[in-house]
Amino acid sequence: MRHLLFLHLLGACVWAGGHLVLLFGVLPRAMRRHDPQPVRDFEQIYERIGIPALLLQIVTGVWLASLWLPHVQWFEATPVARLVQAKLVLLGFTALLGVHARLALIPRLDAQRLPQLGLHILLITLTAVAFVWVGAGFRFGGMF
Ligand code: HEM
Repeated sequence: MRHLLFLHLLGACVWAGGHLVLLFGVLPRAMRRHDPQPVRDFEQIYERIGIPALLLQIVTGVWLASLWLPHVQWFEATPVARLVQAKLVLLGFTALLGVHARLALIPRLDAQRLPQLGLHILLITLTAVAFVWVGAGFRFGGMF
């Protein structure tokens, strides 16, 4: 249990931390220069750590959730089940954003599409931070 939570927290650091660096460190530079290249360079390096971290989050998260609740109770209206559901909704949103970026945004990325890229990075970062917020809710028995 402790090791599982440790891995989940480590993955959370990589996923949320990486996206915050991208949003506040790399994106402003790309916007100033009207050039998406800094984002491309960052993605190329980050991808190799970020994607395994997200996969680790899914495996350890689902595992932790099944320690909190048996699977049959995941979709009930209890406070802890609501947290698990929120995690799954955030995961769905992350997947949609990822697919949209891969298929629609990145292949045709140029200076004109930078604002769209910026919005995308903002949304994925907010989603990552929301994952952390919802995660902290388990300890306190609810979302707020
Ligand atoms: C990138 C995605 C994710 C991030 C950044 C993230 C982050 C976090 C954080 C920071 C905690 C707080 C741990 C604590 O109490 O000290 C947490 C807990 C938790 N997360 Fe996630 N999480 C992610 C994905 C998921 C997924 C996909 C699930 C699956 C449903 C999940 C299920 C859980 C559960 C069950 C806990 C409670 C762990 C416990 O305290 O026993 N997480 N998460």
